Amino acid sequence: MAEGKIHIFDTTLRDGEQVPGCKLNTKEKIQLALALEDLGVDIIEAGFPISSPGDFESVQEIAKVIRDATICGLSRAVYKDIETAAEALKPAKRPRIHTGIGTSDYHIKSKFNSTREDILERAIQCVKWAKNFVDDVEFYAEDAGRTENEYLARVVEAVIKAGATVVNIPDTTGYCLPHQYGEKIAYLINNVPNIDKAIISCHCHNDLGLATANSISGVINGARQIECTINGLGERAGNTSLEEVVMILKQHQQTLGYYTNIKTQQLNPLSRLVADTMRMPVQANKAIVGANAFSHSSGIHQDGFLKNAQTYEIIAPEEVGADGSRIVLTARSGRSALAHRFQKLGHQFNRNDIDVLYVEFLKVADRKKEVEDTDLHEMAKTYETTTVTVN
Ligand code: KIV
Ligand code: ZN
Repeated sequence: MAEGKIHIFDTTLRDGEQVPGCKLNTKEKIQLALALEDLGVDIIEAGFPISSPGDFESVQEIAKVIRDATICGLSRAVYKDIETAAEALKPAKRPRIHTGIGTSDYHIKSKFNSTREDILERAIQCVKWAKNFVDDVEFYAEDAGRTENEYLARVVEAVIKAGATVVNIPDTTGYCLPHQYGEKIAYLINNVPNIDKAIISCHCHNDLGLATANSISGVINGARQIECTINGLGERAGNTSLEEVVMILKQHQQTLGYYTNIKTQQLNPLSRLVADTMRMPVQANKAIVGANAFSHSSGIHQDGFLKNAQTYEIIAPEEVGADGSRIVLTARSGRSALAHRFQKLGHQFNRNDIDVLYVEFLKVADRKKEVEDTDLHEMAKTYETTTVTVN
């Protein structure tokens, strides 16, 4: 593995699809899986095969058509789950079983009414069982974010010894602060003797809006796989957003030294496809893929942007496949933006004209949320007629 390569594990079709209302049928899942492969993700978590016959079929059909990416199926630490995942993954060129169990005391005591030793043994046994079917086995320590590091290290060491190729450290409840999550990963790297035999993976939820920051902190501290979803879809407040982590790594490649295989020009088109197919609109102010991600509406920003786009944009819209930067004309806009738009619409006005027109513009802008091109044409027509009449 290249030192700085970060593996992108997409779970839009599994954790993302768990969102109420986002349920997909097999045809829709195949369409999105093909688009994800095209985007360049390394691993596609296609579903949870034991959960329903429909999901089993989806994983199986995706496994038939995807050739480059690894196809992953989720299971609990239950033999039947693992066997079902293995069956669904049979047609896959690169199959991976993702199995695991809760390791925090909340899970051990409240969910399983069990003990740490028993859970450790179950973790080992589920990995060993999965290894009977596939070489590539990922283990997840659910609620690792709230699992005591010493015990977590014991679990991680044991599952790697049992054959896990990837160990997922989920912050299932989105609880950790970025430095805490980073320290957890660093603790594992420094205290698990066989850690070099597996890839450590980040799987962060967004309950406190920290999923992206936590994943990046995980990578900086030694993780080499990020589990994420398009548009940050996922349980409750969602998962780490794929487009955010990918662009952070790209934007800071010089200083951090990491890269992914993602073709970033496809991020916006795929975001729209996922939003439409999963019937889950993207919030306008969402980083990278929101409708306002490249919109400038205040006069100060517009003036700076028109002089040099980089004054207010750190990413060129075309780099992420967005439609382009947008100057939005509102009551907060200034004369430069107004003059620029008139020029684009084919009206040539000098500074004095713009001063007069700007007063009219503000009247319209105070009445409306956004001043449209039709309003400007109207304003220009009236102004030109009045000017001609006076002359
Ligand atoms: O959030 C989580 O812990 C999960 C696991 C099943 C990987 O989604
Ligand atoms: Zn999750």
